[in-house]
Amino acid sequence: MPEIITIDGPAGAGKSSVAKEIAKRYGYLHLDSGAVYRAIGVVCSERGVDLNDEKAVVECASDLSVELTDSGRVLVDGEDYSEKIRTLEAGKLASKVAKFREVREIVVRILRKVAKGRRVVIDGRDAGSYIFPEAELKIYLTASPEERAKRRYLELLRKGESASYEEVLREVLDRDESDKRREFAPLVVPEGAVVVDTTGKTFEEVMGIIEGLIKNK
Ligand code: DC
Repeated sequence: MPEIITIDGPAGAGKSSVAKEIAKRYGYLHLDSGAVYRAIGVVCSERGVDLNDEKAVVECASDLSVELTDSGRVLVDGEDYSEKIRTLEAGKLASKVAKFREVREIVVRILRKVAKGRRVVIDGRDAGSYIFPEAELKIYLTASPEERAKRRYLELLRKGESASYEEVLREVLDRDESDKRREFAPLVVPEGAVVVDTTGKTFEEVMGIIEGLIKNK
C-alpha cells in the first residue's frame, strides 16, 4: 500500500470525508491541510492582524505552534480550535492567508514534520503538487459547483449554522477562483494524479473507486 496518498480538489468535493474514511479503513494518519490554513486565518484575525498585509500575516503565522493530533483535533498554542475553524467565515480567512508564499512554506513544514515516518493520507489543494510531490498515489477529487455547494450547505445546516444555498454557491465559486488563480502553488491537477469526478455518485461508490486505486498500488 502507498506510504503517502494525496487528495486534492476544489472546496466541497468530499476530500476530507474520503480522506477520513481511508484513514479509518487502512490505518493511515489523516492530515487535513486546509485545517492548518483555517487555524492560521482564524487566529491572525482574532489577533487583529490585517489579512491583506502579507508581512503581518507571516509574522503572526510564524509565531504559532499548530498541532494536528491523531484524533483529528487542531491545536494552536495548545488551545483547541477544531470547532472554531469549521465556519464559512473561517474558510474565507483560510483562502486569504493561503495566498502568501511564506505562509504556505510554514504550513508545508508543519505537515511534513507530522508525516515523518508514518503512513499518511492528506487532503488539500496542493498536497500532490507541492506538499508531497513524491506521493505514490495522487487523487484529484472533483464535482460540479452546484453539487459541491449543496453538500457544503447541508453540512452547515447540520451544524446549526444559518446560510442560504445561493450564498454557499457564491462562496464555492469565489473560492475556486481564488484557489486556482493564486500565484504560488495554485489548485491544479497534480502530475500523475487520477481524476475522480464524484458528481451524482454516492459516498460508497466513490470509496469503491478509491479502494480500487489503493489496492492497485
Ligand atoms: O479544504 P478547506 O475548505 O478546509 O480549505 C480552506 C482554504 O484553505 C481553501 O480555500 C484554500 C486553502 N487551502 C490551500 O490553499 N491549500 C491547501 N492545501 C488546503 C487549503
